[in-house]
Amino acid sequence: MSIRRRHRPFSLALRLTFFISLATIFAFAVLTSIMLSSVKNHFAEMDEQDLNKVKMTLSSILLEPGASEAEKVEKVSVILASYRHISVLMLNADNQMLYQSPGGPDLVPLLNTPQFAESLKTGSVFQWSDRRPGATAQDDHRPKTYRIIAASVSAPYHGKDATCTFVISFSIDFHLHYLDELKYNLWLIAAVMGLLIILIVVFAVHKGHAPLRTVSLKIKNISSENLDVRLDPRTVPVELEQLVISFNHMIERIEDVFTRQSHFSADIAHEMRTPVTNLVTQTEIVLSQPRSIKELEDVLYSSLEEYNRMAKMVSDMLFLAQADDHQLILEHARLDLRAETLKVFDFFEAWAEEQHVSLKMSGHPCWVEGDALMLRRVMNNLLSNAIRYTPEGETVHVTLSENDEWVKVVIANPGPVITPEHLPRLFDRFYRIDASRQRKTAGSGIGLAIVKSIVRAHQGKIHVTSDPVSTRFTLLLPRLKS
Ligand SMILES: Nc1ncnc2c1ncn2[C@@H]1O[C@H](COP(=O)(O)OP(=O)(O)O)[C@@H](O)[C@H]1O
Ligand SMILES: [Mg+2]
Repeated sequence: MSIRRRHRPFSLALRLTFFISLATIFAFAVLTSIMLSSVKNHFAEMDEQDLNKVKMTLSSILLEPGASEAEKVEKVSVILASYRHISVLMLNADNQMLYQSPGGPDLVPLLNTPQFAESLKTGSVFQWSDRRPGATAQDDHRPKTYRIIAASVSAPYHGKDATCTFVISFSIDFHLHYLDELKYNLWLIAAVMGLLIILIVVFAVHKGHAPLRTVSLKIKNISSENLDVRLDPRTVPVELEQLVISFNHMIERIEDVFTRQSHFSADIAHEMRTPVTNLVTQTEIVLSQPRSIKELEDVLYSSLEEYNRMAKMVSDMLFLAQADDHQLILEHARLDLRAETLKVFDFFEAWAEEQHVSLKMSGHPCWVEGDALMLRRVMNNLLSNAIRYTPEGETVHVTLSENDEWVKVVIANPGPVITPEHLPRLFDRFYRIDASRQRKTAGSGIGLAIVKSIVRAHQGKIHVTSDPVSTRFTLLLPRLKS
């Protein structure tokens, strides 16, 4: 059997570092390239200007009227002596070499190249690397490199038109060398800076995650013993605020369930203890001396009553436990709530009469979907409470109404006002307003808890209000749409 593992997302620190580093490296690369190409262009422009200047000077010498070819060559050679990186090759109209700078490169091979022809025609400057053996630049393994310009001028001499062609080369090895060094240094600086920035980012990301670690440490330290711990949303960065608030809500709910659970066990024990103690005491008293059959029968009847109460309580508890676990199995039938309530009225008729309380129903049939037995149990619990707390001679009113969404049932009875502090807790298990007073007459305080569970299972709502006129339980159930 193979277990397929889902790929875990990359760590936040890694992601941040990666993307910031990528952006930094990219920015540095672009910056370095722009700088290098701008320096390169600047050099090329300068070289071109220099070459053109030399070209103008040479042209003006060659165009001088009345000077012999030898005189001109002499003049050119004097002027060129002051230009360190410039060499010249001069040809006469018959393509015979007039002059070639001593110590300069041999420019003759250039004469047959297309660039030479192009430069002669348009005056453009081109770059040429001397690839002949032995022509490598100083401290470099690169061939000597030049920028070249060519020109030709017509210089009349003794009535004869003597055209003179010349090639000017400008050695740019020192520029290239400088560019190489600049390139090396710039990349080195970029690399070091990039590395530095990555380190700073790693550090910053680590620092930035500190609140996350603090929060997680605090959460780690929470156990069932200190569920009252809350995290302060004002002490964390805004990004974590919602998380902390949600966490606080969650822990609040857990705490609530936890305390209720622990109270619940205590309450069960407490509720069971009283009847069991009663039974034990009663039995001991009966056994303390001989009794007649009649006396024993009476005691057994009274015990039976107590057993029945306990059995009912246990089954109620079981019912609630099932409801809590969402194990209630509901039948989904179409029910007329009015008809169901009238059935419960029939059931209570005799007891209500005995209590001198009348039951009154108003409203027309209202249809809901649900479990008939469960909903009857709801009405049963609500009506038994209402009848119990209604003073003699008064009436319990049940009113049915509906709107688009809900069917509303109000069970109202005059009687003692329930003060506001009790109202929200009335539906809690074992909650009774005055436990001692009702011990004999009333149930154990589970009735309304069961009501609430059933109503919830039907997607309904229930709430209670109380004033000197009446106490009203309002029940809302989703209306059956026909
Ligand atoms: N109609 C009512 N009028 C006044 N008090 C009521 C009414 N219904 C319920 N109560 C109060 O709510 C408490 C809880 O009711 P319930 O859960 O049915 O428990 P029980 O009926 O077993 O006492 C009752 O003990 C009583 O104090
Ligand atoms: Mg009750």
